Amino acid sequence: MAIFENLLLNQQNGILTITINRADKLNALNIETIREIRNAMQQVYDDASIKGAIITGAGAKAFVAGADITEIAELSEVTARSFAERGQEVFAMIERSNKPVIAAVNGFALGGGCELAMACHIRVASESARFGQPEVNLGLIPGYGGTQRLTQLVGKGKAMELMMTADMVTAPEALQLGLVNHVVPQEELMSKSVEIMEKIMGKAPLAIGLVIECVNAVFNKDENGYQTEANAFARCCTSEDFVEGTSAFMEKRKANFTGN
Ligand code: COA
Repeated sequence: MAIFENLLLNQQNGILTITINRADKLNALNIETIREIRNAMQQVYDDASIKGAIITGAGAKAFVAGADITEIAELSEVTARSFAERGQEVFAMIERSNKPVIAAVNGFALGGGCELAMACHIRVASESARFGQPEVNLGLIPGYGGTQRLTQLVGKGKAMELMMTADMVTAPEALQLGLVNHVVPQEELMSKSVEIMEKIMGKAPLAIGLVIECVNAVFNKDENGYQTEANAFARCCTSEDFVEGTSAFMEKRKANFTGN
C-alpha cells in the first residue's frame, strides 16, 4: 500500500478524490508529489472498485501553482531532461487512463498545474481559478506537456500568445477558450465535478475507456485514429454491455452495465 505525504486520497461511491496537499506552497509539484501522483494513478488503474478520479488542490487559493521552483533551480541539463520526461510520463498516465479523470480547479493552475489540469479528461473550474504557463518568466518553457496540450486545447495562436507572454487567464476566459469545460462558484466545484463523474459512471465503462482511447488517437501522429475507432467500435459490439445497452433500450428500461 503506497504511502502519501503530499496527497490526500478519499474514495467514495467509486470516485477517488486525489487532493494535492501542500497548501503552504500553493500545492507546487515537487518530485515527491509527482511520484505520489503516479502511485495514486496506479491505484486508479488497478483497483476495480475505483470507477473514476477527481484531482483537486488543498485550500481555496491554488489548484497547483506549478512545479516546485526550488527544485527546478537545482537542475542540470541531464537531470532536467529526465525531470521533464518523468513528469510527462505521469501526466500521460492520467491522459491514457481508461477511467475518467476530472480536474476540479480550485484556484491558481499555473505551469505544471495548468499542465496537470490539461492532462485530465475534463476540467471544471471555480470562478476564482486562474490559468497560465508563466515559465518564460523564469527563463524556462513548460516541461510537463504544456506546449503540446495547450496547443491542442486552445489552438496554435492563443497557445503561442499565452506561453510567450506568460499572461494568466481568468476562469471565464478559459471557458471561452475551451481550456475548461465548466465554471462554477467555488462552493459548487466538487459537487459539479461529482455530478459529471456520476453521469459518466452510469454509462458503459468499456465504451467510456474506448472513447478516451479514440480521442487521444487524434493527437498521436503514428496512429490512424479512424482505424482505432473502427477497432474500438467492433470491440464494443462484442461486449456484454452492448447487449445490455441495446436490450435496455428496446425494453424501455435503464441499462445496468458491468464493464464486460
Ligand atoms: N514552487 C515553489 N514554491 C512556490 C511556488 C512554486 N511554483 N508557487 C508558490 N510557491 C510558494 C511561495 O514561494 C510561498 O512560499 P513561502 O511562504 O515559503 O515564501 C508560498 O508558496 C505562497 O506563495 P506567494 O508567492 O507568497 O503567494 P502570492 O499570493 O504572493 O502569489 C502566485 C501567488 C501564484 C502568483 C505566485 O506564488 C507565483 O507566481 N508562483 C509561481 C508560479 C510559477 O511561475 N509557476 C511555474 C513554475 S515552473
